[in-house]
Amino acid sequence: MTTAVPFLLSLVLVLTNGQYYYQGLMDYLENRFLAIEDRMLIWHEQSNRYNTELRHFKKQTAEFIKGLNQDHGTLRQDLEGTGVRVDRVEREMDYIETQNPAKPCVNQADRMVDVDLEVKERVKERKRGGEEDGYSRVLDCVDIISSIRAMKILKRMGSPKGMWTKDARTSKVYVFNGTAEDTVYQFSSVLDFLSSPGVAHSRPIRLPSLWSGTGCAVYNGYAYYVMEGADELQVIKYDLANGTLADSAVFPVEVADHRPVYSLNPETAVDLAADEEGLWALYTTRESESINLAKMDPDSLDIEQMWDTQCPQENAEAAFVVCGTVYVVYNTRVPSRSRVQCVFDVNDAVTNEEAPLLYFPRRYGLHASLKYNPQEKQIYAWDDGYLILYKLSMTRKLMV
Ligand SMILES: *[C@@H]1O[C@H](CO)[C@@H](O)[C@H](O)[C@H]1NC(C)=O
Ligand SMILES: *[C@@H]1O[C@H](CO)[C@@H](O)[C@H](O)[C@H]1NC(C)=O
Repeated sequence: MTTAVPFLLSLVLVLTNGQYYYQGLMDYLENRFLAIEDRMLIWHEQSNRYNTELRHFKKQTAEFIKGLNQDHGTLRQDLEGTGVRVDRVEREMDYIETQNPAKPCVNQADRMVDVDLEVKERVKERKRGGEEDGYSRVLDCVDIISSIRAMKILKRMGSPKGMWTKDARTSKVYVFNGTAEDTVYQFSSVLDFLSSPGVAHSRPIRLPSLWSGTGCAVYNGYAYYVMEGADELQVIKYDLANGTLADSAVFPVEVADHRPVYSLNPETAVDLAADEEGLWALYTTRESESINLAKMDPDSLDIEQMWDTQCPQENAEAAFVVCGTVYVVYNTRVPSRSRVQCVFDVNDAVTNEEAPLLYFPRRYGLHASLKYNPQEKQIYAWDDGYLILYKLSMTRKLMV
Protein backbone atom coordinates (compact mmCIF):
# COMPACT_ATOMS: atom_id res chain seq x y z
CA MET A 1 0.00 0.00 0.00
CA THR A 2 2.79 2.46 0.78
CA THR A 3 4.23 2.05 -2.73
CA ALA A 4 0.74 2.57 -4.18
CA VAL A 5 0.28 6.02 -2.68
CA PRO A 6 2.96 8.01 -4.67
CA PHE A 7 1.89 6.17 -7.78
CA LEU A 8 -1.73 7.26 -7.29
CA LEU A 9 -0.66 10.84 -6.57
CA SER A 10 1.21 11.00 -9.86
CA LEU A 11 -1.92 9.62 -11.55
CA VAL A 12 -3.90 12.48 -10.03
CA LEU A 13 -1.40 15.05 -11.39
CA VAL A 14 -1.22 13.60 -14.89
CA LEU A 15 -4.94 12.94 -15.41
CA THR A 16 -6.55 15.98 -13.74
CA ASN A 17 -8.62 16.81 -16.76
CA GLY A 18 -10.44 13.49 -16.86
CA GLN A 19 -13.68 13.20 -14.84
CA TYR A 20 -13.67 9.49 -15.43
CA TYR A 21 -10.20 9.07 -14.02
CA TYR A 22 -10.98 11.14 -10.98
CA GLN A 23 -14.08 9.07 -10.19
CA GLY A 24 -12.08 5.87 -10.69
CA LEU A 25 -9.42 7.16 -8.38
CA MET A 26 -12.01 7.99 -5.67
CA ASP A 27 -13.53 4.54 -5.97
CA TYR A 28 -10.16 2.97 -5.74
CA LEU A 29 -9.20 4.96 -2.67
CA GLU A 30 -12.53 4.28 -1.02
CA ASN A 31 -12.12 0.56 -1.57
CA ARG A 32 -8.65 0.69 -0.14
CA PHE A 33 -9.85 2.61 2.93
CA LEU A 34 -12.68 0.16 3.44
CA ALA A 35 -10.24 -2.71 3.24
CA ILE A 36 -7.99 -0.96 5.76
CA GLU A 37 -10.91 -0.29 8.09
CA ASP A 38 -11.94 -3.94 7.86
CA ARG A 39 -8.49 -5.01 8.74
CA MET A 40 -8.28 -2.52 11.60
CA LEU A 41 -11.57 -3.84 12.88
CA ILE A 42 -10.16 -7.36 12.84
CA TRP A 43 -7.01 -6.21 14.66
CA HIS A 44 -9.11 -4.39 17.17
CA GLU A 45 -11.24 -7.46 17.81
CA GLN A 46 -8.19 -9.63 18.05
CA SER A 47 -6.47 -7.28 20.46
CA ASN A 48 -9.68 -7.09 22.52
CA ARG A 49 -9.79 -10.86 22.63
CA TYR A 50 -6.13 -11.03 23.62
CA ASN A 51 -6.72 -8.46 26.35
CA THR A 52 -9.69 -10.35 27.69
CA GLU A 53 -7.73 -13.58 27.64
CA LEU A 54 -4.78 -11.90 29.33
CA ARG A 55 -7.03 -10.45 32.02
CA HIS A 56 -8.61 -13.84 32.51
CA PHE A 57 -5.19 -15.48 32.73
CA LYS A 58 -3.99 -12.87 35.21
CA LYS A 59 -7.07 -13.41 37.34
CA GLN A 60 -6.57 -17.15 37.31
CA THR A 61 -2.88 -16.79 38.20
CA ALA A 62 -3.70 -14.40 41.05
CA GLU A 63 -6.26 -16.84 42.44
CA PHE A 64 -3.82 -19.71 42.10
CA ILE A 65 -1.07 -17.75 43.90
CA LYS A 66 -3.51 -16.76 46.62
CA GLY A 67 -4.39 -20.40 47.10
CA LEU A 68 -0.70 -21.35 47.22
CA ASN A 69 -0.01 -18.65 49.82
CA GLN A 70 -2.85 -19.93 51.99
CA ASP A 71 -1.57 -23.48 51.73
CA HIS A 72 1.92 -22.28 52.61
CA GLY A 73 0.57 -20.40 55.63
CA THR A 74 -1.31 -23.41 56.99
CA LEU A 75 1.71 -25.65 56.31
CA ARG A 76 3.96 -23.30 58.23
CA GLN A 77 1.50 -23.11 61.13
CA ASP A 78 1.31 -26.89 61.19
CA LEU A 79 5.10 -27.12 61.17
CA GLU A 80 5.46 -24.61 63.99
CA GLY A 81 2.87 -26.47 66.04
CA THR A 82 4.67 -29.72 65.38
CA GLY A 83 8.02 -28.14 66.28
CA VAL A 84 6.71 -27.03 69.64
CA ARG A 85 5.20 -30.46 70.26
CA VAL A 86 8.44 -32.21 69.26
CA ASP A 87 10.34 -30.00 71.69
CA ARG A 88 7.94 -30.86 74.47
CA VAL A 89 8.13 -34.57 73.70
CA GLU A 90 11.95 -34.46 73.55
CA ARG A 91 12.01 -32.76 76.91
CA GLU A 92 9.62 -35.29 78.43
CA MET A 93 11.64 -38.14 76.90
CA ASP A 94 14.88 -36.80 78.33
CA TYR A 95 13.23 -36.47 81.67
CA ILE A 96 11.77 -39.98 81.56
CA GLU A 97 15.14 -41.36 80.41
CA THR A 98 16.86 -39.83 83.37
CA GLN A 99 14.22 -41.30 85.65
CA ASN A 100 14.59 -44.77 84.11
CA PRO A 101 18.22 -45.00 83.01
CA ALA A 102 19.12 -47.82 80.65
CA LYS A 103 21.57 -49.41 83.03
CA PRO A 104 23.42 -51.94 80.82
CA CYS A 105 24.29 -49.27 78.24
CA VAL A 106 25.83 -46.73 80.60
CA ASN A 107 29.31 -45.77 79.59
CA GLN A 108 31.48 -45.47 82.65
CA ALA A 109 33.27 -42.38 81.37
CA ASP A 110 30.05 -40.50 80.77
CA ARG A 111 28.28 -41.21 84.01
CA MET A 112 27.63 -37.86 85.47
CA VAL A 113 25.87 -38.60 88.70
CA ASP A 114 28.57 -40.84 90.07
CA VAL A 115 31.01 -37.97 90.16
CA ASP A 116 31.12 -38.21 93.93
CA LEU A 117 32.83 -41.56 93.52
CA GLU A 118 35.06 -40.20 90.77
CA VAL A 119 36.12 -37.34 92.98
CA LYS A 120 36.85 -39.67 95.87
CA GLU A 121 38.95 -41.80 93.53
CA ARG A 122 40.81 -38.74 92.40
CA VAL A 123 41.45 -37.66 95.95
CA LYS A 124 42.79 -41.13 96.71
CA GLU A 125 45.02 -41.00 93.64
CA ARG A 126 46.25 -37.62 94.66
CA LYS A 127 47.14 -38.90 98.10
CA ARG A 128 48.94 -41.85 96.56
CA GLY A 129 50.83 -39.63 94.12
CA GLY A 130 51.78 -37.09 96.77
CA GLU A 131 50.35 -33.62 97.32
CA GLU A 132 52.27 -32.08 94.41
CA ASP A 133 49.81 -33.03 91.69
CA GLY A 134 46.83 -31.58 93.51
CA TYR A 135 48.50 -28.26 94.09
CA SER A 136 50.00 -27.85 90.65
CA ARG A 137 46.54 -28.41 89.16
CA VAL A 138 45.23 -25.37 90.98
CA LEU A 139 48.27 -23.18 90.58
CA ASP A 140 48.77 -23.44 86.86
CA CYS A 141 45.14 -23.34 85.97
CA VAL A 142 45.44 -23.07 82.20
CA ASP A 143 42.28 -24.77 81.03
CA ILE A 144 39.84 -23.42 78.50
CA ILE A 145 36.58 -25.07 77.48
CA SER A 146 36.76 -26.76 74.09
CA SER A 147 33.24 -28.14 73.97
CA ILE A 148 30.15 -29.07 75.92
CA ARG A 149 30.48 -32.84 75.85
CA ALA A 150 27.27 -34.11 77.36
CA MET A 151 24.16 -33.07 79.15
CA LYS A 152 21.91 -34.77 81.64
CA ILE A 153 18.55 -33.63 82.96
CA LEU A 154 18.27 -34.68 86.56
CA LYS A 155 15.12 -33.25 88.00
CA ARG A 156 12.26 -30.87 87.64
CA MET A 157 11.63 -28.28 90.34
CA GLY A 158 8.58 -26.13 90.89
CA SER A 159 9.98 -22.76 90.00
CA PRO A 160 10.98 -21.76 86.45
CA LYS A 161 13.95 -19.82 87.84
CA GLY A 162 16.43 -20.76 90.48
CA MET A 163 19.93 -21.98 91.11
CA TRP A 164 21.57 -25.23 92.16
CA THR A 165 25.20 -25.92 92.84
CA LYS A 166 27.59 -28.22 94.60
CA ASP A 167 30.26 -27.10 97.01
CA ALA A 168 33.52 -28.28 95.47
CA ARG A 169 35.04 -28.85 98.91
CA THR A 170 32.25 -30.53 100.88
CA SER A 171 30.46 -32.19 97.89
CA LYS A 172 27.14 -31.09 99.37
CA VAL A 173 24.43 -30.03 96.94
CA TYR A 174 22.41 -26.85 97.45
CA VAL A 175 19.12 -25.92 95.80
CA PHE A 176 17.99 -22.30 95.71
CA ASN A 177 14.40 -22.60 94.42
CA GLY A 178 13.06 -19.28 93.07
CA THR A 179 14.50 -15.78 92.82
CA ALA A 180 13.44 -14.12 96.08
CA GLU A 181 13.41 -16.74 98.84
CA ASP A 182 15.37 -17.38 101.99
CA THR A 183 15.38 -21.17 102.38
CA VAL A 184 18.18 -23.22 100.81
CA TYR A 185 17.87 -27.02 100.62
CA GLN A 186 21.03 -28.94 101.39
CA PHE A 187 21.58 -32.53 100.20
CA SER A 188 24.56 -34.66 101.17
CA SER A 189 25.25 -35.66 97.54
CA VAL A 190 23.84 -35.54 94.01
CA LEU A 191 22.58 -39.10 94.40
CA ASP A 192 20.83 -38.16 97.61
CA PHE A 193 19.22 -35.25 95.81
CA LEU A 194 18.13 -37.53 92.95
CA SER A 195 16.52 -40.08 95.22
CA SER A 196 14.67 -37.46 97.22
CA PRO A 197 11.02 -36.80 96.37
CA GLY A 198 11.07 -33.00 96.05
CA VAL A 199 13.09 -31.63 98.92
CA ALA A 200 11.97 -34.30 101.41
CA HIS A 201 15.48 -35.65 102.11
CA SER A 202 17.08 -32.27 102.46
CA ARG A 203 18.19 -30.17 105.34
CA PRO A 204 16.50 -26.76 104.93
CA ILE A 205 18.72 -23.82 105.82
CA ARG A 206 17.10 -20.48 106.49
CA LEU A 207 19.24 -17.51 105.41
CA PRO A 208 19.11 -14.23 107.36
CA SER A 209 17.49 -12.43 104.40
CA LEU A 210 16.03 -13.00 100.93
CA TRP A 211 18.43 -13.62 98.10
CA SER A 212 17.83 -11.70 94.87
CA GLY A 213 17.84 -13.43 91.50
CA THR A 214 20.04 -16.44 90.86
CA GLY A 215 23.43 -14.89 91.65
CA CYS A 216 24.23 -16.93 94.78
CA ALA A 217 27.40 -19.01 95.12
CA VAL A 218 28.52 -21.74 97.49
CA TYR A 219 32.23 -21.93 98.16
CA ASN A 220 34.20 -23.71 100.87
CA GLY A 221 31.21 -24.29 103.13
CA TYR A 222 29.82 -20.77 102.84
CA ALA A 223 26.88 -19.38 100.92
CA TYR A 224 27.53 -16.01 99.31
CA TYR A 225 24.65 -13.94 98.05
CA VAL A 226 23.70 -10.37 97.32
CA MET A 227 20.89 -8.66 99.17
CA GLU A 228 19.26 -5.58 97.61
CA GLY A 229 18.84 -2.91 100.28
CA ALA A 230 17.16 0.46 99.85
CA ASP A 231 20.27 2.22 98.56
CA GLU A 232 23.04 -0.33 98.70
CA LEU A 233 23.82 -3.84 97.58
CA GLN A 234 25.14 -6.04 100.35
CA VAL A 235 27.23 -9.16 99.97
CA ILE A 236 26.35 -11.72 102.65
CA LYS A 237 28.61 -14.58 103.65
CA TYR A 238 26.78 -17.27 105.54
CA ASP A 239 28.29 -20.27 107.30
CA LEU A 240 26.27 -23.26 106.10
CA ALA A 241 27.75 -25.70 108.61
CA ASN A 242 26.74 -23.96 111.81
CA GLY A 243 24.15 -21.57 110.42
CA THR A 244 25.69 -18.22 111.32
CA LEU A 245 26.32 -15.00 109.50
CA ALA A 246 30.06 -15.06 108.82
CA ASP A 247 30.56 -11.63 107.27
CA SER A 248 28.94 -8.97 105.13
CA ALA A 249 30.16 -6.08 102.97
CA VAL A 250 28.67 -3.31 100.88
CA PHE A 251 29.10 -3.99 97.18
CA PRO A 252 30.90 -0.99 95.64
CA VAL A 253 28.12 -0.10 93.19
CA GLU A 254 25.19 1.99 94.36
CA VAL A 255 21.69 0.70 93.79
CA ALA A 256 20.87 3.74 91.64
CA ASP A 257 23.89 3.02 89.41
CA HIS A 258 23.50 -0.65 88.86
CA ARG A 259 21.54 -2.57 86.26
CA PRO A 260 20.71 -6.29 86.09
CA VAL A 261 23.84 -8.24 85.05
CA TYR A 262 22.01 -10.05 82.26
CA SER A 263 19.15 -8.48 80.32
CA LEU A 264 17.31 -11.82 79.97
CA ASN A 265 17.35 -12.53 83.73
CA PRO A 266 16.57 -9.11 85.20
CA GLU A 267 16.09 -10.45 88.77
CA THR A 268 19.83 -10.91 89.25
CA ALA A 269 21.57 -7.75 90.48
CA VAL A 270 25.02 -9.28 90.96
CA ASP A 271 26.08 -12.78 89.91
CA LEU A 272 28.62 -14.47 92.17
CA ALA A 273 30.70 -17.28 90.70
CA ALA A 274 33.26 -19.69 92.09
CA ASP A 275 36.05 -21.33 90.11
CA GLU A 276 39.54 -22.81 90.60
CA GLU A 277 40.89 -19.39 91.51
CA GLY A 278 38.29 -18.30 94.04
CA LEU A 279 35.28 -16.03 94.09
CA TRP A 280 34.16 -13.61 91.39
CA ALA A 281 31.36 -11.08 91.02
CA LEU A 282 29.73 -10.15 87.72
CA TYR A 283 27.74 -6.91 87.55
CA THR A 284 26.68 -4.12 85.19
CA THR A 285 26.50 -0.39 85.84
CA ARG A 286 24.60 2.39 84.10
CA GLU A 287 27.75 3.93 82.63
CA SER A 288 29.05 0.75 81.08
CA GLU A 289 26.83 -1.12 78.64
CA SER A 290 28.96 -4.20 79.20
CA ILE A 291 29.41 -6.70 82.02
CA ASN A 292 32.05 -6.00 84.65
CA LEU A 293 34.05 -8.51 86.61
CA ALA A 294 35.46 -8.23 90.12
CA LYS A 295 37.75 -10.62 91.97
CA MET A 296 36.67 -11.06 95.59
CA ASP A 297 38.56 -12.38 98.55
CA PRO A 298 36.32 -15.20 99.83
CA ASP A 299 37.59 -14.73 103.39
CA SER A 300 37.30 -10.99 103.85
CA LEU A 301 34.91 -10.10 100.97
CA ASP A 302 37.44 -7.47 99.82
CA ILE A 303 37.33 -6.56 96.14
CA GLU A 304 40.83 -7.21 94.83
CA GLN A 305 40.59 -6.13 91.21
CA MET A 306 38.00 -5.05 88.64
CA TRP A 307 37.77 -5.40 84.86
CA ASP A 308 35.41 -4.36 82.08
CA THR A 309 34.83 -7.55 80.09
CA GLN A 310 33.41 -5.65 77.06
CA CYS A 311 30.80 -8.40 76.86
CA PRO A 312 27.39 -6.79 76.23
CA GLN A 313 24.66 -7.14 78.85
CA GLU A 314 21.97 -7.12 76.16
CA ASN A 315 20.59 -10.62 75.40
CA ALA A 316 22.87 -12.23 77.97
CA GLU A 317 21.15 -14.92 80.06
CA ALA A 318 23.96 -16.09 82.35
CA ALA A 319 27.72 -16.44 82.68
CA PHE A 320 30.25 -18.61 84.45
CA VAL A 321 33.94 -18.38 85.26
CA VAL A 322 36.43 -21.17 84.52
CA CYS A 323 40.09 -20.70 85.37
CA GLY A 324 39.80 -16.93 85.46
CA THR A 325 38.00 -16.79 82.11
CA VAL A 326 34.44 -15.47 81.94
CA TYR A 327 32.09 -17.17 79.49
CA VAL A 328 28.97 -15.10 78.82
CA VAL A 329 25.99 -17.04 77.49
CA TYR A 330 23.52 -15.38 75.14
CA ASN A 331 20.04 -16.24 73.98
CA THR A 332 17.06 -14.46 72.42
CA ARG A 333 13.85 -13.20 73.98
CA VAL A 334 12.00 -16.09 72.41
CA PRO A 335 14.34 -18.76 73.78
CA SER A 336 16.44 -20.56 71.17
CA ARG A 337 19.80 -22.31 71.53
CA SER A 338 22.00 -20.82 74.22
CA ARG A 339 25.54 -20.07 73.16
CA VAL A 340 28.75 -18.67 74.60
CA GLN A 341 29.36 -15.64 72.45
CA CYS A 342 31.77 -13.61 74.50
CA VAL A 343 34.73 -14.59 76.64
CA PHE A 344 37.03 -12.53 78.79
CA ASP A 345 40.24 -13.81 80.36
CA VAL A 346 41.78 -11.86 83.23
CA ASN A 347 45.22 -13.14 82.17
CA ASP A 348 44.69 -12.13 78.52
CA ALA A 349 45.56 -15.65 77.44
CA VAL A 350 42.23 -16.24 75.72
CA THR A 351 40.73 -13.78 73.26
CA ASN A 352 37.29 -13.79 71.71
CA GLU A 353 38.80 -14.81 68.37
CA GLU A 354 40.56 -17.86 69.82
CA ALA A 355 37.68 -19.06 71.95
CA PRO A 356 35.39 -21.57 70.28
CA LEU A 357 31.76 -20.60 69.73
CA LEU A 358 30.08 -22.96 72.17
CA TYR A 359 26.49 -24.01 71.61
CA PHE A 360 24.54 -25.73 74.36
CA PRO A 361 23.33 -29.17 73.26
CA ARG A 362 19.65 -28.69 72.74
CA ARG A 363 16.96 -26.09 72.66
CA TYR A 364 15.16 -25.52 75.92
CA GLY A 365 13.93 -22.46 77.69
CA LEU A 366 16.18 -19.84 79.13
CA HIS A 367 19.00 -20.72 81.53
CA ALA A 368 18.24 -18.99 84.80
CA SER A 369 21.67 -19.90 86.16
CA LEU A 370 24.88 -21.71 85.20
CA LYS A 371 27.23 -22.65 88.07
CA TYR A 372 30.59 -24.19 87.36
CA ASN A 373 32.10 -26.90 89.53
CA PRO A 374 35.90 -26.84 89.15
CA GLN A 375 36.44 -30.31 90.56
CA GLU A 376 34.08 -32.08 88.18
CA LYS A 377 34.39 -29.72 85.19
CA GLN A 378 30.63 -29.64 85.10
CA ILE A 379 28.03 -26.91 84.96
CA TYR A 380 25.00 -27.04 87.21
CA ALA A 381 22.23 -25.40 85.20
CA TRP A 382 18.65 -24.38 85.90
CA ASP A 383 16.68 -24.25 82.69
CA ASP A 384 12.99 -23.39 82.81
CA GLY A 385 12.44 -25.53 85.90
CA TYR A 386 14.69 -28.40 84.78
CA LEU A 387 17.92 -29.09 86.65
CA ILE A 388 20.63 -30.05 84.19
CA LEU A 389 24.30 -31.04 84.31
CA TYR A 390 26.57 -30.11 81.42
CA LYS A 391 29.87 -31.92 81.18
CA LEU A 392 32.71 -29.87 79.70
CA SER A 393 35.69 -30.87 77.62
CA MET A 394 38.78 -28.85 78.38
CA THR A 395 41.92 -27.99 76.49
CA ARG A 396 44.97 -25.87 77.33
CA LYS A 397 45.07 -22.11 76.94
CA LEU A 398 47.53 -20.90 74.31
CA MET A 399 49.98 -19.05 76.51
CA VAL A 400 51.79 -16.16 74.91
C1 LIG B 1 9.81 -24.21 94.28
O1 LIG B 1 9.15 -22.98 94.10
C2 LIG B 1 7.92 -23.09 93.44
C3 LIG B 1 7.41 -21.71 93.16
O2 LIG B 1 7.59 -20.86 94.24
C4 LIG B 1 6.95 -23.93 94.26
O3 LIG B 1 5.74 -24.08 93.58
C5 LIG B 1 7.57 -25.30 94.49
O4 LIG B 1 6.77 -26.07 95.32
C6 LIG B 1 8.96 -25.16 95.09
N1 LIG B 1 9.55 -26.48 95.12
C7 LIG B 1 10.01 -27.02 96.23
C8 LIG B 1 10.53 -28.41 96.07
O5 LIG B 1 10.03 -26.45 97.29
C1 LIG C 1 30.64 -21.27 113.34
O1 LIG C 1 31.85 -21.73 112.75
C2 LIG C 1 32.87 -20.73 112.65
C3 LIG C 1 34.09 -21.35 112.01
O2 LIG C 1 33.77 -22.44 111.21
C4 LIG C 1 33.21 -20.17 114.00
O3 LIG C 1 34.16 -19.14 113.89
C5 LIG C 1 31.96 -19.64 114.66
O4 LIG C 1 32.26 -19.21 115.98
C6 LIG C 1 30.89 -20.72 114.70
N1 LIG C 1 29.68 -20.15 115.29
C7 LIG C 1 28.93 -20.83 116.13
C8 LIG C 1 27.74 -20.08 116.65
O5 LIG C 1 29.21 -21.94 116.50
